[in-house]
Amino acid sequence: MFELPDDIKEIQNLARDFARNEVMPGAAKRDHDHIYPAELVAQLGEMGFMGMFVPEQYGGAGLSTLAYVVALEEICYADASVGVTMSVNNSLACWPILTAGSEAQKQKYLPQLAGGKKLGCYALTEPDAGSDAGAQRTKATAVEGGYKLDGAKIWITNAPKAQICVAYANVAVEERHKGVTAFILESDWPGYAIGKPEEKLGITSSATSELSFDGLFVPTENRLGGERKGFGLAMATLDGGRVGIAAQALGIAQRSLDLAVAHAKQREQFGKPIAANQAIQWMIADMATRIESARLLTWRAAVEKDKADKSRVGHYCSMAKLAASETANFCADKALQIHGGYGFSKEYEVERLFRDARITTLYEGTSEIQRIVISRNCLS
Ligand code: CAA
Repeated sequence: MFELPDDIKEIQNLARDFARNEVMPGAAKRDHDHIYPAELVAQLGEMGFMGMFVPEQYGGAGLSTLAYVVALEEICYADASVGVTMSVNNSLACWPILTAGSEAQKQKYLPQLAGGKKLGCYALTEPDAGSDAGAQRTKATAVEGGYKLDGAKIWITNAPKAQICVAYANVAVEERHKGVTAFILESDWPGYAIGKPEEKLGITSSATSELSFDGLFVPTENRLGGERKGFGLAMATLDGGRVGIAAQALGIAQRSLDLAVAHAKQREQFGKPIAANQAIQWMIADMATRIESARLLTWRAAVEKDKADKSRVGHYCSMAKLAASETANFCADKALQIHGGYGFSKEYEVERLFRDARITTLYEGTSEIQRIVISRNCLS
């Protein structure tokens, strides 16, 4: 598939218009002042972009993963902070509830999340469970009518603003991933505490913080899926999350290329535009080639995600994330280089793109973790 179908192009145009007209104008100020884009998130909810693949019966847009990645790239072209807020809500909050939730859970939580009325987050990472996600130490102790959760989560995207949290805890810490169990939590429950917002290098207007659970009672009806079934769900959720981060990275990469081209044509040195130099031309060529390759891989992974046979989803989603996130860093770096000293200034957008790109090879699994997933698939 080298051309998007017409219905996906329509979604792309809708996302592009919104991104360029509504999201882009305030991006620099939000980044500088670390302002969470609450209004934009609400608008994304009204447009159906906060629950893109949630079926209409649960208040979502009922679209494909391809539509999702195409729209997300457009939003991230304008502002990767808005994009990750949207991505986490769709991929990491709506998707596991849609996949593993009971009918009652789907009816209760999905319309709120998909409509942008409430925000979701995904609490997996802990101080000692980063790349080694199976080392979950947050304890889930069975009590009458449910579970008691005790522990701490770190680096939780959306946590300071989220009312609904898909969280992972362990019913048997000594058995590592075998005891991991998923829960749907509500942020106003006693024992649920939001830590102070993290000060970050990039995506500064997205909200990130620690979460702690102190004797937090969760009724059995809020267990998501079976007891001890949480790790597989966490991993499958991340497969889908990773194709979203690939789309985010593509948005950053494409914006970097477009700004680099514009600057190279306009900036004159030695009596000619710097675009007349082969050194610049080759950087542009490498950026364009890497973006096109990563985009094809991302679309491929998105299509794979919606097939009935799920056996290759993780493989392609990890490849898409690896390729696109490395491309985003490459392109943002080259765009800054082409801008010369101007690129080092906060007055130029490439400075923000350079900082925003950096997270894409880290969260939802580092590039090294993606290589583990891909190579295991190749060698199995
Ligand atoms: N889908 C379903 N099940 C899966 C799976 C998948 N993609 N991958 C693994 N599993 C299952 C396995 O089948 C196995 O099941 P059994 O115990 O029943 O046999 C179990 O999970 C354990 O699998 P592994 O032995 O492969 O597990 P591992 O300990 O070697 O870990 C890993 C594998 C790929 C390294 C994994 O730990 C991992 O992905 N680490 C990175 C964590 C990560 O990405 N964190 C991101 C945090 S969220 C975030 O970043 C959000 C944000 O801010 C925006």
